[in-house]
Amino acid sequence: MKLIIVENYEEISKLAAINIKDVINKNPNAILGLATGGTPLGTYKELIKMNKENEIDFSKVTTVNLDEYIGLSERNTQSYRYFMNENLFNHVNIKKENTFIPNGLAKDIQEETNNYDKKIDELGGIDIQILGIGTNGHIAFNEPSDFLISGTHLTDLTQSTINANSRFFNSIDEVPKTAITMGLGQIMKSKKILLLAHGENKAEVIKEVLSGNITSKNPATMLQMHKDVTIIVDRTIGDLIKITDI
Ligand code: PGA
Repeated sequence: MKLIIVENYEEISKLAAINIKDVINKNPNAILGLATGGTPLGTYKELIKMNKENEIDFSKVTTVNLDEYIGLSERNTQSYRYFMNENLFNHVNIKKENTFIPNGLAKDIQEETNNYDKKIDELGGIDIQILGIGTNGHIAFNEPSDFLISGTHLTDLTQSTINANSRFFNSIDEVPKTAITMGLGQIMKSKKILLLAHGENKAEVIKEVLSGNITSKNPATMLQMHKDVTIIVDRTIGDLIKITDI
């Protein structure tokens, strides 16, 4: 694992966008694994800027997202499809039909999850996967548990995730309790992974990810088994994890 400590959130976003740009410029047909949440927003702003300045062409790019809430339609402003359209897809020259997000309204969830994994495999796998991380170590909606599930699956959200995500909803009661998420096995098949984190509340979990221990109680620790993971954090986390202690 490679750890890069930069000054602040802006620098994290710039560096992540440069990494994505490099992948696309090497392979215009690249498959991007994308994430939602607060963390990647800055990266998406940078990508939009690069696209407007003709530094990246999304016309042949395909994207697959990590997860989607159950029960929210794409018109619901809290759905991850809405988030991606608003924060990236509507502002770059990507073809909407090349953007994939699990369908949280699917009648047959099992079929939806199986097809999602099949689709990713058919595409040839993810070239670069962007990840945020929950303070509890979740990656996508792979929550701490006694065991982890490899493929895309239906999952319950933990109370801590529901609490954390309630900041985007009018009330905590509106936060869905279940979601479809890519599993850790599918995420680990990505050729390259970028994990982004900033702010002091992520310091402890990042320290665990770098600890050398792997536990399903912190799903992100699994990433230590991947051969090409770069973690980009801000100075706040860098100072708090006191890298020499690890
Ligand atoms: P955040 O969420 O980017 O909004 O902090 C990350 C996550 O929960 O995976």
